[in-house]
Amino acid sequence: MLNRLKFLTAGESHGKGLSGILEGFPAGVPLSETFIARDLARRQMGHGRGGRMKIETDHAEILTGLRHGETLGSPIALWIQNRDWENWKQDKMSHVAQETPIPEVTLPRPGHADLAGIQKFGFTDIRNVLERSSARETAMRVALGAVCRSFLKELGIEIASHVLQIGPVLADNINPEKLESLNDLADASDVRCLDDSAGPKMIKHIDDTRRKGDSIGGVFEVLASGLPAGLGSYTHWDRKLDARLAAAMMSINAMKAVSFGDGLNVAEASGSQVHDEIIKENDKIMRATNHAGGIEGGMSNGEFVRVQVTMKPIPTLARPLRSVDIKTREPGIAHKERTDACAVPAASVIGEAMMALVMTDAILEKFGGDSLEQVKVHMNTTGVKG
Ligand SMILES: Cc1cc2nc3c(=O)[nH]c(=O)nc-3n(C[C@H](O)[C@H](O)[C@H](O)COP(=O)(O)O)c2cc1C
Repeated sequence: MLNRLKFLTAGESHGKGLSGILEGFPAGVPLSETFIARDLARRQMGHGRGGRMKIETDHAEILTGLRHGETLGSPIALWIQNRDWENWKQDKMSHVAQETPIPEVTLPRPGHADLAGIQKFGFTDIRNVLERSSARETAMRVALGAVCRSFLKELGIEIASHVLQIGPVLADNINPEKLESLNDLADASDVRCLDDSAGPKMIKHIDDTRRKGDSIGGVFEVLASGLPAGLGSYTHWDRKLDARLAAAMMSINAMKAVSFGDGLNVAEASGSQVHDEIIKENDKIMRATNHAGGIEGGMSNGEFVRVQVTMKPIPTLARPLRSVDIKTREPGIAHKERTDACAVPAASVIGEAMMALVMTDAILEKFGGDSLEQVKVHMNTTGVKG
């Protein structure tokens, strides 16, 4: 559901690496590998991650589309090497047929793509599915999202996120006036939680769950500030900004629900509690509150956009659930490999990347322009700043 921007990712979890191409991105945007590395490092943080995060320190190499520190308007190609590839290239993930057969993974994990994936492609080895269905792919999305963040920053648009819930532990939500320092505050917490009393309880809950060989999900919120009013459109279903954001968030592995603003609470509240009164302050028309989460009629209304995303517990369990061997058709227990017990903090950073990609697309769609300067001019002459 991107209209002006296109992106593609390729790569397997234990393959040589991940590649990504971003097309339709304007010229003149400052960019560096160091800037992208910051978000990649943030994706690797968080209490509850498995051993892989210690093996990999992700770095995205910029292969094309950049000269003297600024984008060229041509496709931007990125490459992230999988450091673990060294351990896999000889046999399990070799590109050539193997003389000695490699043991196949035949016990699908409930909750993962395994069973439906082999049924879809007619594979006999679940590894053929799990290598691409793994959330490793989201490292490239974070890198491409960072490219978009650089563009949005130039326009005064900030994107941040924080964790609202891990399992049953709820954090108090926040009402920030600015987003500039919100990520720094969230990153200072091991679970990216801004509620000092809930954070340690979340960490304890993750530890208790992991000790039982189980996994846990939660809820995170992604926010965007500095947006002009009128991004997206009410005129057609696939132009609505909330629909586009919902699809983007749902595309992240393990996400089960998306809500905006007051979210699910609106079902039991009355209209006067939910709708944001229109007021005038310093000659500016604005809202007294932001229950809507910055989107009305499928368009940004100039307030902060707020999206909450619910993540299910990780499917790979240290104490695996029942399964059936796809080869022998005998009952067994699900395949197990190195796994995270909780990845909600990391998922919140991926949510920021998806927000950045969708917002960049929506800005380019509304204002047009081939370069950052042209977009700025168009925004200043035609945009309604929120
Ligand atoms: C940051 C992140 C890390 C994840 N880590 C794991 C993991 O270590 N083990 C696992 O089984 N699933 C993990 N998942 C979830 C699976 O990738 C996901 O459940 C699977 O791809 C099936 O897709 P679905 O849950 O959207 O249906 C992770 C998801 C995210 C967002």
